[in-house]
Order: sequence, then structure tokens, then C-alpha cells
Amino acid sequence: MATKIFGIDFGTNSLKIYRKGEGIIFNQKSVIAIKGRNNVIAIGDEAFEMYGKSPEYIQVDFPLKHGAIASLSNMLSLLNCIFLDLSRQYGKFRGAEFIIATPYDITEVEKRAFYDLVDSSIVRPKRLRLVEKPIADAIGAGINISNSQGALLVNIGADTTEISILSMGGIVLSKLLPIGGNQFDEAIAAAVRKKYNLMIGQKTAESIKRNLVDFSQESDLTCKAYGRDVVTGLPREREITAALVNQAVLESLNSIVEDIRTILERTPPEIAADVYANGMTITGGSSGILGLDKLLQSTTGLQVSLCPDGALTVINGLSHILEEPEYSALAQPLKESYYNDK
Ligand SMILES: Nc1ncnc2c1ncn2[C@@H]1O[C@H](COP(=O)(O)OP(=O)(O)OP(=O)(O)O)[C@@H](O)[C@H]1O
Ligand SMILES: [Mg+2]
Repeated sequence: MATKIFGIDFGTNSLKIYRKGEGIIFNQKSVIAIKGRNNVIAIGDEAFEMYGKSPEYIQVDFPLKHGAIASLSNMLSLLNCIFLDLSRQYGKFRGAEFIIATPYDITEVEKRAFYDLVDSSIVRPKRLRLVEKPIADAIGAGINISNSQGALLVNIGADTTEISILSMGGIVLSKLLPIGGNQFDEAIAAAVRKKYNLMIGQKTAESIKRNLVDFSQESDLTCKAYGRDVVTGLPREREITAALVNQAVLESLNSIVEDIRTILERTPPEIAADVYANGMTITGGSSGILGLDKLLQSTTGLQVSLCPDGALTVINGLSHILEEPEYSALAQPLKESYYNDK
């Protein structure tokens, strides 16, 4: 039977909510469209449709940046609208419990902000607990976190990459980098502008990334892209090559590889030995880049495992934590220290 217990993954690109006994009940863009001062006109995927197209008096905002809350008021409005929509479908949220996944490598104040956000929402939850994102991610990726084998997990999302070493059910090291799919899109847009004098939007850059980037083979694929000519100011179509966009994305990926190496250098030797034996697991939506496993394998020397639904590993991990009693202790209330830190 469905109960009022929910898990939330606040992704920069998309917000995912799981309901115990039911499944994933929300998976939409973390976007809000506001007209004037505070008239919310759309949220989620509908608001994203307006992104890059709206007139000046409509603000289309992603309230999360690099894994943390960048605009508290917009985030609260977005969450309240989501809860309102969901309550029409699933009934009132009164007395609900929440488990929120938060990145490990953010400040305690930033973690507390997620807690306070849900706590101050229209739902007024009865109980709130936090789970470290890398732990939920590992469970969702099918890694047995309770055994003594060290594991390396790399979640490449939209605005972050979280590189974590886990052992015996805990996090040994974790680093959150401000690099993900958004930065790959920006790199593609910058390369296209430089090479073809063509300004393309973020959505076009993302679609080029999904269609063209491939590190598994030398590719002579091309795709057409529409944009604005920087010189004439007029709309124009150009043929974009895979070689150009591969190179653009590679530069951002190189800094992820550098940080994976740094984390490995700092990993205690016994755990590092496990990682060398077992390899790394990549998750997050950006792990869908074709040939990324091959590229990471050749640049780090480690075996790379991919998850079929990388964008959903964190919310899938939360689902296990909600459904299976042996994982329940992984969700903890806010530490007192978060408040003493004020
Ligand atoms: N097949 C694919 N190829 C390349 N990139 C992809 C593919 N599918 C999704 N992505 C990228 O994955 C990103 C979204 O991933 P995900 O849902 O894991 O991010 P998020 O959890 O919202 O963000 P974050 O974890 O950084 O806060 C987007 O940048 C998107 O372009
Ligand atoms: Mg994510």
C-alpha cells in the first residue's frame, strides 16, 4: 500500500520524487517560470519549454546551481507548486515523511538549506531525514555498499560531478565538481561560435551533444544546427562535425579525469587496491555520452561499469532506502551540529 513517505533527489537539471509503495511519481526539469514579481505561470517540463524563448517580463529560472540551492525563494515556489500538483493526484500530503539526498561535499549550511526548504514548504512534514547522495547513488547502481570492498563511484549529472570512494557502508572521500552536462553544452556552444561564427542556444547545444558526441570510435558524422550568425546577425544553418564537438567536450572531461586521479592518490592503499581490482562505476545522466566508458577506461586505466539508467540511480537508491528496512538507518535526521553552525 502506498504511504506518505517520499524520497527526493534535487537534481540541478531534473527533480525526482519517489513515493513509498508507488514508484517515481515526479521526474521533471527543475525549472520555474515567473511572470512579474511572483506570479508562477509554469513549472517543470512546461516551464523548460519556455527556456530561452520567453519575453523579458517572464523569468525562467533553474533555482539549483552546482548541486546547491541558488535561489531560495524560487526553489520554495517550485517545490510548493510540485506538492500542490501532486496532491491533486495522490491526495493531501499532511503528515508526510521525507528523505532528501544531499551531496556529501557541500557545507553544512548548504545541507541544512535543503532540510529547511522542505520543512518550510506547504507540506509541513512530520519527519525529515537526509541521506548522503553518493550512498543512495551506490545502492541505486547496484553496488553492495555494506561489504568491505572499496568502490569508486562517479556521478556525472547536469551541473555537478560527484566522485566518491565508498567502503564498508560509508563514504571515505567525496568531491563535488562544478562540471557536468551543462558545461559540456556550453563548451559545444563556444566551439561552434568560434569555428562557424554561429551563436546557438543551450537546447541546440544539448541536442548536438546527444546526437554527435561519441568517444567509442572515430566518427565522420555531422548534424545541422540553426543559430544566429555573429557577423550578419541573421539566422543561419551550419553543418557541425563530430570531431569539433568531441574535442570541446573532451576538454571538460579532462578536468574530471584529473580529479579522479587526485581522489585515487588520496585513497588509503587497501581501498585503492579494491578499486584497481573492481574498477569504477559511472552514473548520472551524462554517463549516457557514447563511449564515455571507453574514454575513462583509457585515461584512468580502470575498468568502467555503466548503469542502464544513469539519471535515475540516486532516486532508485532512495527507493531501496524507503522500501527495505535494512537500509533505513542510512537516512538520518539533521545533525545538531548543523544548527550549532549557524
Ligand atoms: N544520452 C545522453 N548523452 C549525453 N548526455 C546526456 C544523455 N542523457 C542525459 N544527458 C545529460 O545528463 C544531464 C542530466 O543528468 P541528471 O538527471 O543526472 O542531472 P541532475 O541530477 O539533474 O543534475 P546534478 O546531479 O548535476 O545536480 C543533462 O546535462 C543531459 O544533457
Ligand atoms: Mg544528480
